[in-house]
Amino acid sequence: MKHIMSPLDMTVEELDKLLDLANDIERHPEKYAHVCEGKRLATLFYEPSTRTRLSFEAAMMNLGGKVLGFSDAGSSSATKGESVADTIRTVSCYADIAAMRHPKEGAPLVASMASRIPVINAGDGGHQHPTQTLTDLLTIRSLKGRLNNLTIGLCGDLKFGRTVHSLIEALVRYDNVKFVLISPEELRVPGYIREGVLEKNNKEYKEVVRLEDALPELDLLYMTRVQRERFFNEEDYVRMKDFYILDAAKMELAGPDMLVLHPLPRVNEIAVEVDNDPRAAYFKQVQYGVYVRMALILTLLEVEVC
Ligand code: NCD
Repeated sequence: MKHIMSPLDMTVEELDKLLDLANDIERHPEKYAHVCEGKRLATLFYEPSTRTRLSFEAAMMNLGGKVLGFSDAGSSSATKGESVADTIRTVSCYADIAAMRHPKEGAPLVASMASRIPVINAGDGGHQHPTQTLTDLLTIRSLKGRLNNLTIGLCGDLKFGRTVHSLIEALVRYDNVKFVLISPEELRVPGYIREGVLEKNNKEYKEVVRLEDALPELDLLYMTRVQRERFFNEEDYVRMKDFYILDAAKMELAGPDMLVLHPLPRVNEIAVEVDNDPRAAYFKQVQYGVYVRMALILTLLEVEVC
């Protein structure tokens, strides 16, 4: 049985197939409207979420399936001390597939080892967020037409931002992708990504502090929020939170085709005035997230649609 813990759980070919399926779903949603009738998705969310949980639920409903689950650890038996392994054993009796978000790195992996149904990591602490990466890849491929030959700026909290870690791991597998890592000194990409992923794969990258310096050369700018919940103290968060604010004036420094992506939620890092710029793609990205999760559910449940 297949689980999805990291974007690397799929080969580049498998990923291509998944993105093709997502594009077909986008074009012909009616073809897929009943293919998961009788199937159930469990969403086990021990950490807050709007997009990821609702996107999974919408994805299963769009396929004709049903959903069950919890959106808050406080309303689950975790408060009584139940382990994720016992919870997933139980949920395996109620559902055909599960998406789990947890504040502890590795919790969905522990669950997958005890599970009788496919488990999808929907975000584990500051570690990985593979389905956001699938969303990002689908958005980039659909709007740019390619996943190679790109200069990608990642900006903001590169230390705690799990979406950034997963996206870098996925993109190093494509040719001629260059990275510009834009962050304050304290929020640099962790060493295991810098040395273990970028350098290990001989990828060209540079680290800069000023967003303005990077903008002119980028094909794509991936903005992120400062991850307040992973800071040890509030003072550091307050000092860092408005370090980057992308506004209309900064957008003038960027090329006419530079896309702006953001996994959302946005706090202050993108001014609302940027939303009307045709290069702003972060709400389109939300829609792609539903298509790619539909494609992932079909793939993991091995549902064939002719
Ligand atoms: C992200 C996450 O949860 O890591 N949100 C999401 O799933 N789209 C990004 C974030 O919370 O900043």
